[in-house]
Amino acid sequence: MFKKYKIATIGGDGTGPEAVKEGLKVLAAVSDKYKIDYETVDYDFGGKRFLDTGEILPDSAIDELKSFDAIYLGAIGHPDVEPGILEKGILLRLRFELDQYINLRPVVLYDKKYCPLNLGQDQKINFTVVRENTEGLYCGAGGFLRKGSVDEVAIQESINSYKGIERCIRYAFEYTKKVNREKKLTLCGKTNVLTYVFSLWQRVFNKVAKEYPEIKTDYAHVDATCMWMVKNPEWFDVIVTDNMFGDIITDLGAMIQGGMGIAAGGNINPQGVSMFEPIGGSAPKYTGKNVINPLAAICAISMLLNQIGQEQAAKAVESSVVKIVKEKLKSLGAGRMGYSTSEVGDLVVKEIIDK
Ligand code: IPM
Ligand code: MN
Repeated sequence: MFKKYKIATIGGDGTGPEAVKEGLKVLAAVSDKYKIDYETVDYDFGGKRFLDTGEILPDSAIDELKSFDAIYLGAIGHPDVEPGILEKGILLRLRFELDQYINLRPVVLYDKKYCPLNLGQDQKINFTVVRENTEGLYCGAGGFLRKGSVDEVAIQESINSYKGIERCIRYAFEYTKKVNREKKLTLCGKTNVLTYVFSLWQRVFNKVAKEYPEIKTDYAHVDATCMWMVKNPEWFDVIVTDNMFGDIITDLGAMIQGGMGIAAGGNINPQGVSMFEPIGGSAPKYTGKNVINPLAAICAISMLLNQIGQEQAAKAVESSVVKIVKEKLKSLGAGRMGYSTSEVGDLVVKEIIDK
C-alpha cells in the first residue's frame, strides 16, 4: 500500500495563510496526479492566537509535530507584537526543538527579466545556500548588564560546536554531490576577524573535504560573498555558512533571483521532521488583499515533496512554476504580477493538470 503522509500546516501571520492556501491547492493537484496520499492538520500558532490567549507555542504541540512527515509554514511576525517574541517563540523554537539543523535555500533565477542585476549573456544564477540553523548567534546566549542606564552593556554570543558545524558541513558536501551541478562547495565565513569561530569552521571544512575528493572547495569572506553574489553569481554552486551570515546572504540571494515572491526555504532535520516555508515574511501591508505572489510558497511545496521522497511530483511543481514565471507573469512582485494571488495558484494547478 502507498504511504499516507501527515503534513502539519501553520499559516501563521499576515499573508502566511493566503500563501499556504495556494501551496495546498498545488499539493492537492500534484498529489492527485502522482497518486500521493496525504492528510493535513492545521495549527493556528501566530500573533493572533498570542494576542487572544497569551499562548505562543504549547509544549504539547512540539511533541505532536514530531509525529508528522513534514510541516508547511506560512509566515511568523505580527505588527502588534514586540519583535522577537513570536520569531523566537515559534519559528526559532521549532527549528531548535525539532533539531532542524539545516536551512536550505535555493537561489535560482528562472528568467533573466526578473533579475535586478544586469547579467551578461553567459551569466546564470543557480546556487544553493546551506545555512546552519541551530547554533551561532541564534542560540540566545547573552544578556544585559546595568540595563536601562548609560552604563548598560549588552552581550550576544555566537555558539559554535564541532559537532554542530561538522553535521552542517557534511550535509553541504553530500548535497553538492547529490545535486551534481558544478560540484563546488564554498565556505562563507570571516576568518580574518572572527578568528575563533571561523577557524573552527575552516578546520572542520578542510577535514570533511578530504572525504570528498570529487568536490572542488573554495572559501570566501562573507562581505566578499555579497560582492560576488552581485558581480559574478555564476561562480557559486553550493555555499555553506553559519546561521547569521546565512540569514543575511539569503535575503540578498532572494533579491537576485527575483524577490521574496519566489524565494523558498527548508528547515531540515535529515533524520526527523522538516519544515518548509516561503522566506518573505508576513508582509502585513498586503494581508487579505489577494495580491502577494504565492510562488515562493508553491516552491516550498516542491521542496517539501522532495524531502519526503516524492521527487517526481516535486519536479512537476517546479517545472510548472518555471513555465508560469516565463510565460505568464508580468512581475514577481506583490500587486504587479498581472494576476491575483489565487489566480497564480490556479495557473500552476492548471499547468500541472495539463502536462
Ligand atoms: C529567516 C527569518 C528568521 C531568521 C526570523 C524571522 C527569525 O529572517 O527565516 O531568515 O532570522 O532566521
Ligand atoms: Mn532572514
